[in-house]
Amino acid sequence: MFNLNKLQKTILAEHVRHGGTAVDFTMGNGHDTRWLSDAVGPTGHVYAFDVQPLALERTRALLQSSGCAPNYTLILDSHENVLDYVTGPICAGVFNLGYLPGSNKQVTTMRPSTLKAVRAAVQLLDRGGMLLIVAYPGHPEGKDEGLMLDEELAKYDRKQFTVSKFRIINSPTAPYFFCVVKNP
Ligand SMILES: C[S@@+](CC[C@H](N)C(=O)[O-])C[C@H]1O[C@@H](n2cnc3c(N)ncnc32)[C@H](O)[C@@H]1O
Repeated sequence: MFNLNKLQKTILAEHVRHGGTAVDFTMGNGHDTRWLSDAVGPTGHVYAFDVQPLALERTRALLQSSGCAPNYTLILDSHENVLDYVTGPICAGVFNLGYLPGSNKQVTTMRPSTLKAVRAAVQLLDRGGMLLIVAYPGHPEGKDEGLMLDEELAKYDRKQFTVSKFRIINSPTAPYFFCVVKNP
């Protein structure tokens, strides 16, 4: 059995630049923000977004208790507005789609705002940088988000971007992920 989270971070680590700027587009409980904070180091910066105050509270508590460098900005806003806060370029962006574990499942990422945010993230991406997008087909909106991303990302010019997808094909409801790399 694959450890998908480990695999995602192994691939992402090849693209995150020490001292660079990264974005966590779905902060949630803060685990990805924490990972990005460590990966860019004290001279880098992480911007993290969520629409739920609870996510900011949990993330702030996690970052403070784990002794992370103060290299992050937590933003209570939808990720589709990223261009209002981040000018780029970014070396890494993470979308862990879906709902906040242990909270209201109705507050989930939705196709229209996810699409706007992914397009903005691609605009911000530096050469050699990478977006990691994790889809959760085990719930209806998550399934549709994944299908939408398949269609959207397959259109990207292969001279400019390398887009891949990692999926366990005999477990249809297992999470899977896309990697969007802007070619150097
Ligand atoms: C699966 S969780 C993220 C897990 C998180 N990355 C972690 O490491 O714990 C998805 C999060 O996306 C948030 N979310 C939903 N819609 C959003 C939006 N439009 N903009 C930003 N975050 C959103 C939810 O509130 C939820 O906290």
